[in-house]
This record gives sequence, structure tokens and C-alpha cells, in this order.
Amino acid sequence: MDNRYDDAIDTVLAEDFKRYMQRYKKIYQRLAKKVAMNLSTSSEKPVIVDLGTGPGLLLKELHDQIPTAQIIGVDSSENMLMIAHKNINDLHCSDCFVTHARAEQLPFGDNSIDCIVSRLSLSSWEKPQQTFVEIFRVLKPGGRVLIEDLNRGFPAWKLSIRKVLMSLKTAKKDVITYHSEYYARAFSLAEAEQAFIKIGFTIVKKEGKKTGWNFLVIAEKPLTACKILQVL
Ligand SMILES: C[S@@+](CC[C@H](N)C(=O)[O-])C[C@H]1O[C@@H](n2cnc3c(N)ncnc32)[C@H](O)[C@@H]1O
Repeated sequence: MDNRYDDAIDTVLAEDFKRYMQRYKKIYQRLAKKVAMNLSTSSEKPVIVDLGTGPGLLLKELHDQIPTAQIIGVDSSENMLMIAHKNINDLHCSDCFVTHARAEQLPFGDNSIDCIVSRLSLSSWEKPQQTFVEIFRVLKPGGRVLIEDLNRGFPAWKLSIRKVLMSLKTAKKDVITYHSEYYARAFSLAEAEQAFIKIGFTIVKKEGKKTGWNFLVIAEKPLTACKILQVL
């Protein structure tokens, strides 16, 4: 079944989203730094997946900060991926790729990925529970996942102000609508944390206030994980 949210991403929205988010380079730099700090496996060439990479703005920052890594952007939207593909071509990185896949069915082997990072994609996943199981399956034992997302606890009145600010910062109407619809189905930090724990992850760190605009959860697949996956 197709995800109706992916269908909403036409070429215009994909381009408008990229244009708007390009001004927030620091968001991506900060997240890439956190990924670098959470490479807990000892691979010389870590494999890092950006799940729901969109236009691939994080891929460049990951490559800049972790040049030895193989970096793979995954997205279910062809229109977003076309932009991400162009962006990684500009990097001239022979170990950076993008691939078309759904979060619910990742095209990677068991225990093959060192780190998965995902920014503002969780709330679009058609089957979040299934995706958490997939993330668990493909991560190496000791591998970590970082999820940064919008927080459902962000008050409606603040969201209204944010919409005005976005339009003042020249966000197009389609981007503002995409953002608002995303908030409407967002997780809270506690829900995201519970989803990880249910699958067998260990929570390493969580950031974000109950009524803040976003949250970050960092979780680890335990070294004894194979046993846990078998009983699911
Ligand atoms: C709000 S955008 C965020 C893009 C990027 N992470 C960023 O922060 O710039 C969400 C992205 O998640 C992707 N996405 C949504 N559901 C997905 C799924 N089930 N599998 C893979 N990607 C998905 C969308 O196509 C979209 O590109």
C-alpha cells in the first residue's frame, strides 16, 4: 500500500522544501556531529544510513564530518531522491549513495549497519513499529540509531506563530502545509522512547522539553540483541 504522505511530495514541494531547509545548515551540522559522536562500533569504514533523507542535506554534513564512512540516503519519494542524488553527485564522494526504499523494508542485510540517523521522517512512516524492528534488524550489535523529530507536545499557539515566522522567512505555502500536517501526526518524546524500548533497544540519550518543538532520542542495539530479535 502506498503511503499517502509520500504521494503528497510532488516535484515542486521537494524543491521548495530543499530551498527552505538549505538556510538551516547548522541543524544538519549539529546532527552530523552527534552521529560522529555515536559511532559506537569499531569499524574503520562505518556504514551510516540517513533514513528519510529527503533532499539529502544531511548527507553532505555527514560526509564532511566523517569522511571515512560509507553514507547511504534512503527515501521513499522519488522526487526527493532526485534532488538528493544531485546533491551527492556534487560531493564527488565515491562512498555516498542514495536508494529508493521504504523505511518499513530496508534493503540491507542483518547486522550490517553501524548507525542510522533519521530526521523528521518517523511521523510519516506507515508502520512505525515495523520500521523500528527493521532498524533493529539491520543495525550491528552495539550500533546506534538517532531519531530527531517534531514533538507533538509543542503547543498549538506556538505552532501558529511558527507558521507566520516561516512565511516571513519565505517558506512557500506548500512547505508550511507539509510542516503543519507533519506536526498533526507527530510523536511525543515519551512515545518515541517507548517504541524503542518495546523492540529491545537501550536508550542512550534523550533531548527535548515536553513542550519543546523537537526531540532527539539516541538508542543502541544491545550486544546481546540476536536473542531478543528471535523472541519478537
Ligand atoms: C520532512 S522530510 C525530511 C527530510 C530530511 N530528513 C531533512 O530533515 O531534511 C521527510 C522525508 O521522509 C520520507 N519518508 C516518509 N515516509 C517514508 C518511508 N516510509 N520510508 C522512507 N522514507 C520516508 C519522505 O519522502 C521525506 O523525504
